[in-house]
Amino acid sequence: MFSVKSFFVTGTDTGVGKTVITAALAMCLRKLGIDVGVMKPIASGIPQKTGFKSSDVSSLYEAAGITDSEEMINPVFLPIPTSPYDATKILNVSIDMPLIFEKFQNLIKIHQMLLVEGIGGIMTPITKNFFVADMIKAIGLDTIIVTRSTLGTLNHTIMTLRMCKDYEIPVKGMIVNYFDERGGPAEKNAPATLYELTGIPILGIIPFVKDYQKLDTMVNIVEKNIDLNSFIS
Ligand SMILES: Nc1ncnc2c1ncn2[C@@H]1O[C@H](COP(=O)(O)OP(=O)(O)OP(=O)(O)O)[C@@H](O)[C@H]1O
Ligand SMILES: [Mg+2]
Repeated sequence: MFSVKSFFVTGTDTGVGKTVITAALAMCLRKLGIDVGVMKPIASGIPQKTGFKSSDVSSLYEAAGITDSEEMINPVFLPIPTSPYDATKILNVSIDMPLIFEKFQNLIKIHQMLLVEGIGGIMTPITKNFFVADMIKAIGLDTIIVTRSTLGTLNHTIMTLRMCKDYEIPVKGMIVNYFDERGGPAEKNAPATLYELTGIPILGIIPFVKDYQKLDTMVNIVEKNIDLNSFIS
């Protein structure tokens, strides 16, 4: 019998590919026979007209093939495309953190492994004094960092890793997304330079995938480009 750990998937920014990669990872690990659950504790954005309010939650749910309720997977939805903190100010609401921790505890109990997708980057504010990093620390998971390969990634990634160190958040590794063979030198050099400067393992390099919305395609790419055995011990 193997054992698996749960992870908090964060990114160096919003839109770096946390959902695309977490969803594909969940499906790949399911294929290996692991009961993977998913969670997006806080989502913000324009609500979808059908299905779950958050498109991230729909993608994660579909990929993991689970039956958990929307309230479990996404306890807090803020119907405005801003940071959670800005949304609470604009909408004049507060975020129910105890509810988030309660749902997290439920999900981690019922699944063998849980992949939790963050919100934006590690210093995205949830309240005035509570950032995504504080949430990771509070739930006590190791992280995986999704990063871009384009110009600017060294700055964003090193800052993200410095904050993890400050908060004493263990980092399993980084996944470099959007690696494009036809791109410029930033794309080609990024993974090697990121590793050289940080010493944090690169778990995989994911290319630009035109039909990234097709789960099967992303699953093939992730199976080829990420060492899934490193998730199992
Ligand atoms: N490997 C890829 N190939 C092609 N397009 C990609 C890839 N990864 C991400 N994208 C594009 O980038 C968009 C943002 O990706 P994704 O939603 O996964 O980011 P995110 O980090 O989860 O963003 P958020 O902070 O909003 O949760 C996708 O909708 C898709 O258009
Ligand atoms: Mg997302």
